[in-house]
Amino acid sequence: MIDHIYWKNDTLFLLDQRMLPFKKVYVRCNTLKDIRDAIKNMIIRGAPLIGIVAAYGFVIGIKELLKNKRALKITEVKRVSEQLLQTRPTAVNLSWAINRMENTFNKYKASHNILEVLLNEAINIHVEDIENNRMLSLFGAELISDGDRILTHCNAGALAMGGYGTALGVIKAACEAKKKIKVFATETRPYFQGARLTAWELYREGIDVEVVPDNHVGILCYKGLIDKVIVGADRIALNGDTANKVGTYMIALCAHKHNIPFYVAAPVSTFDPELKDGSLIPIEERNGNEVKHFKNIPITLKNIKARYYSFDVTDHRYISGFITEKGIIKRPFKKYIKMLFT
Ligand code: MRU
Repeated sequence: MIDHIYWKNDTLFLLDQRMLPFKKVYVRCNTLKDIRDAIKNMIIRGAPLIGIVAAYGFVIGIKELLKNKRALKITEVKRVSEQLLQTRPTAVNLSWAINRMENTFNKYKASHNILEVLLNEAINIHVEDIENNRMLSLFGAELISDGDRILTHCNAGALAMGGYGTALGVIKAACEAKKKIKVFATETRPYFQGARLTAWELYREGIDVEVVPDNHVGILCYKGLIDKVIVGADRIALNGDTANKVGTYMIALCAHKHNIPFYVAAPVSTFDPELKDGSLIPIEERNGNEVKHFKNIPITLKNIKARYYSFDVTDHRYISGFITEKGIIKRPFKKYIKMLFT
C-alpha cells in the first residue's frame, strides 16, 4: 500500500507526486489555499484523487469560515466550492465530490458538530473510491488473458485514486489471479506520470513493466507487441467520448487500426451524463513553460512558444468497453451509461 494521502490533527498530508520515485516528501495542507495549490500545482493529480482532496479541502474551507461565527451564508459556502472547482477543470470527479459535500452541508448545517459530519463524508468518499477500484478491477481482470501484453498511458494507479487503481488496478487484479502480464508504460511527457509513477507502482508490485517513449505506440502496435490497451479517464460523456491524458486519442486510433481492444477503466464518479458528447468536456490548457523545461532545465530557447493541452478526447467509436464497479459497459454506450444513473 502507498500512504499517499492521510488526515491527522486537522491536517491533510499529501505525498508530493512531483518528487517520485526518488524522494518521498509529504506536504501539509491545513488551509483552503494549501489544498488549491496542491491540486493546481500537481502535488497530487489523477481524477478520483483530485475529487477526494477537494472533499477534504471543503472541510478545511468551512472550518476557516466557522472560526468566528456560528452560521454561514449560502454565498460563503458557494465561494469555498468555487475556489476548489477553479483548480483543474477537466476531471468531473472534482465537481462530483464538491456536490456531495455541499449536499451534506445543506442537510446537516444546523448540527453542532457539522465539521465532524463533513469530515466523515470526505472519509466516505475516500474509502468508497478504494472499494470501487477493487470491484472494477475484479470485473476488468476477467477481460485479461494469461500472457497479455498491455499498454497503458499516464498513471491510473493507486497514486491517482484513494488507493489501488483503475487501469493499473485491473492489471494488479489479473496478476493476483496468477495471470502473467507484461506492461508497456508510456513515459507521458511533460510530467512523466508513466515513467515516474506507473513504472514505480508496478515495479513495487513485482509486475513486469517496460517504459517506452510516447512516440513508440505506433511501432509497438505495428510489431504486434500489444494485445490490449487499458487507460483511465478524467471525464466520460453520455455517448462514451472520453477525456484522458493527452495522447490517449492517438493511442486509441492506433489500437483501432491494428484491431487491438482498447478499454477505459473508471469509477461511475468519472461519468458525466449531463454532457451529451466529448465536444462539451472542458479541456485544461496548462502553461507552455511546462513543455519547455525538463526538471527545471530549459529544452528550448526562451522565446520559443509552446502549447500544452493536459487532456484530449477519444471518440467513443475507438473504445471497446468501459470497466466500472457496476460491471463492464459494452455498446450501445449511451443506453448503458444512462442506466448507471437510474
Ligand atoms: O494530469 P493528471 O496527472 O491529473 O492526469 C491524470 C490522467 O489523465 C489519468 O489518466 C486520469 O486521471 C485517469 S486515472 C485517474
